Order: sequence, then C-alpha cells, then structure tokens
Amino acid sequence: MGEPTKTFVITRFDPDKDEVPKTQEYEIPVEADWKVLDAINFIKDEVDPSISHRWSCRMAVCGSCGMMVDGEPKLTCKTALSDYGDRVTVEPLANFPIVRDLVTELEGFMEKFQRVKPWVIRAKEDAGAADSKPPMNDKGTFVQSPAELAEFKQFSMCINCMLCYAACPVVANEAEFLGPAAIALGHRYNLDSRDQGQDERNEIFRDEGTVFSCSFANECSEVCPKNVDPAAAVNQAKFGAVIDWATSLVLPRASAGRRGEQGGK
Ligand code: SF4
Ligand code: FES
Repeated sequence: MGEPTKTFVITRFDPDKDEVPKTQEYEIPVEADWKVLDAINFIKDEVDPSISHRWSCRMAVCGSCGMMVDGEPKLTCKTALSDYGDRVTVEPLANFPIVRDLVTELEGFMEKFQRVKPWVIRAKEDAGAADSKPPMNDKGTFVQSPAELAEFKQFSMCINCMLCYAACPVVANEAEFLGPAAIALGHRYNLDSRDQGQDERNEIFRDEGTVFSCSFANECSEVCPKNVDPAAAVNQAKFGAVIDWATSLVLPRASAGRRGEQGGK
C-alpha cells in the first residue's frame, strides 16, 4: 500500500496577471498527525514555492494562519487534516480583499480596532491620584481583584485571527460594519474596572454600522478558536449602549474632562 495522499484545491491570484482568482490542484503525500497548515507548507517547500500564505507561531497564538478550509474559516495550524476527505479546498479568508493567493488585506480591520479606543481611558483630573478608583498599590499600579479581572478576561483572549469577520453574514453584506472582534475589544475595555471611557465608547457603539447592525447570527462565536464569544460581547454592548443613552437623559455628563487620555498600568 502506498503513502496516503490528499488533493488540495488552492486559490491562486497574482494581482499583476490575474483579473480574478483561479484554483490550482496539488496531490501530495500526507502524514496522519498533520494540521492543514503542514500540508500547505509542504506544498510551498516541496512542490510550488510560488504560493503565498501567512503563518508564524504554529501554536494558535499569533492569529495569522486563518483561511477558508472546505468553505469554513479555520485557524489552519490548529485544524487537523484528518477531519477532511481526499480533496480539501483552501481559500483566503472570506469577506476580505485578496492580496495574493491565500493572503488577505488587513488594513481596514486594524482601523476598526482603533475606532473603539482599545486602551484604558482615565479622567485627567484623577489619573494617578491616591484616591483613584480602583485603588493603586505603593508602586502606582492599579489594583484589580480576580473578580474584576474575570469580568472582561474572556473578551481579552482575542488573537485577531479574523475568522469571525469571515463568518459574519453582516460583514458579507456591509463591509463597513464594525464587526465582532472590534466590538468585543471595545466592550472588554468598557468592563475594565480601571477604565473611565464608557461614555465615549457607548457613543461609538450607538453609531450606524456598529452594535445595532448585528443580526445575532452567532456564527462569529461558533468559529472563534479562542472561545472569546464575540456574539455575547455584541449583545452586552448593545444593552450597555442603550442603558448609557437612557442614563444620559436623566443625569448630566461630566464627559468634557474625560476625553481620551491613554493610560492604564
Ligand atoms: S474574536 Fe475570536 S474569531 Fe474573532 S478575531 Fe478574535 S480570536 Fe479570532
Ligand atoms: S500560525 Fe499562529 S495562529 Fe496559526
């Protein structure tokens, strides 16, 4: 009996030559314990060095190896090849422009992250004060209890792999949608006991194309390799934005002195 093989149907696109992406097939020997990324690396190293794809850590940490495998967004360094049949289709992540072959353009995604102010915002007047909330220790570092950390920890586990954007039906129809990971990131800071920027982020969350554009398909949470549960974050952010708006009708805002100072220790 010969070595087991699989055929990979891989998207190819050269922006200097091609109008539209095409596919190319490669039949290669495979090992039983390979991940999908091992097969793509084998093709690049041993068969066709012209293929472009992204990867780095090979341990589900850097978030760079996301691709569509048989039509589903997957972290290829974490996805067992044995879960697939004799023909495996590998495409660039859906809902992102293709740069070349399996590589997509990330710039728009990074802008979305910046938009939610992903840092601890402190009010100028009490930054570093001895009576600050939460309290500081004698090294000038904010003290946060395990319970306060648990409030946001899950939403801080994101590795920016973008699988949730590739799975999201709203992103597919509305490219400007702020999207699951960016909303989860903003919500993470809203839940942080050191942060005082909730008014600013809730204003952003009430803008068009943000939390209220979500149709709660839940696909984002299903594909997330880190169990961030961005769908839950979006739902909680919706609720927070509404409560914040209702509160602002009855209580005056002290937001003038609270405009975006980067801080947090
Ligand atoms: S929320 Fe999950 S799927 Fe989305 S970018 Fe972060 S780790 Fe990836
Ligand atoms: S190579 Fe880093 S997450 Fe897959």
